[in-house]
Amino acid sequence: MPLSSRTLRPAPAAPLDGNVREGGLDLIHRPRRNRKSDWSRRLVREAALSVDDLIWPIFVMAGEATRSPIPSMPGVERLTVDEAVRAAVHAAELRIPALALFPYVDPTLRDPAGSEALNGQNLVCQTLRAIKKEVPDLGLITDVALDPYTSHGHDGLLDEGRILNDETVDVLVRQAVVQAEAGADVIAPSDMMDGRVGAIRAGLDAAGFQDVQILSYAAKYASAFYGPFRDAIGTAKTLSGAKRTYQMDPGNGLEALREAALDVDEGADMLMVKPGLPYLDIVWRLKEAFGLPTFAYQVSGEYAMIEGAARQGWVDGERIMLESLIAFKRAGADGVLTYFAPRVAKLLAKG
Ligand code: PBG
Repeated sequence: MPLSSRTLRPAPAAPLDGNVREGGLDLIHRPRRNRKSDWSRRLVREAALSVDDLIWPIFVMAGEATRSPIPSMPGVERLTVDEAVRAAVHAAELRIPALALFPYVDPTLRDPAGSEALNGQNLVCQTLRAIKKEVPDLGLITDVALDPYTSHGHDGLLDEGRILNDETVDVLVRQAVVQAEAGADVIAPSDMMDGRVGAIRAGLDAAGFQDVQILSYAAKYASAFYGPFRDAIGTAKTLSGAKRTYQMDPGNGLEALREAALDVDEGADMLMVKPGLPYLDIVWRLKEAFGLPTFAYQVSGEYAMIEGAARQGWVDGERIMLESLIAFKRAGADGVLTYFAPRVAKLLAKG
């Protein structure tokens, strides 16, 4: 029920001398009462963050027993498959519901068509199999897009500077099926091609994967906040040109509703908004409009800004981390993809 206008109306203005008592104003409404003590603040808190809200994105690379730091994402490392399995075990112990996997693909395996995306033995597929074997009950989400695999760093096929939509969708459908075969529970198309959700749904169903969910990056903006991620997957240097012909313009809100409506029609099970904090209005609008499970991605640049400032001692990193995550919940998100996931999960477990 919306707050009644009666409740919101300020107390009627009384003549000044009638309104002033000894000891203070004669106020009817004193919102501060509910904030007076910790127990009361906890009792009336509207949004809560729990470990069930967390999706942990991790980066995988070839090799063995190695972790390599990503300088623009302090505290985050690329993991070899065996290390990714250890991270997955850790995530399960912390009760984090799901991981999202992103590969750093060896540059020699990248080509203009992103063919390695369709190799059933590629890094993501190897990681899926290895984790499923060890921790079968952990949710595994895979990104569908070609950028880790293309020599030009774009999410789709490129023809004389133009990203080809329909040809790309054909490849993405095959990529999704390859990932499902290797054990992906959730396919998350992040490419922003038109029509890909419907095509992927049909492709998965035809291959017998009716139960594989689709988490659509319904509203993904052409954002500078992805900078550190591109360092992590090694596309920062190779990316030629911007992604503005397929990712959304940061000035648009209604267009996000339209994008999401299409994805819902095409069979998306869950929606995502990305980046996160700068686009909380979009999270709110999509949740209000569709009521589907809606997630926000606190992307690499958001992580880097918080963690970078915290490491300088300029802000209280732990408090900012928690405050930024509760903001997503307040805005209506059902969960958040965040690089802080294991740290937050540990804190929440301590209570
Ligand atoms: C690629 C993809 C990107 C991210 C997730 N999937 C980057 C991009 O579109 O360039 C960004 C995530 C982050 O910044 O943490 N399709």
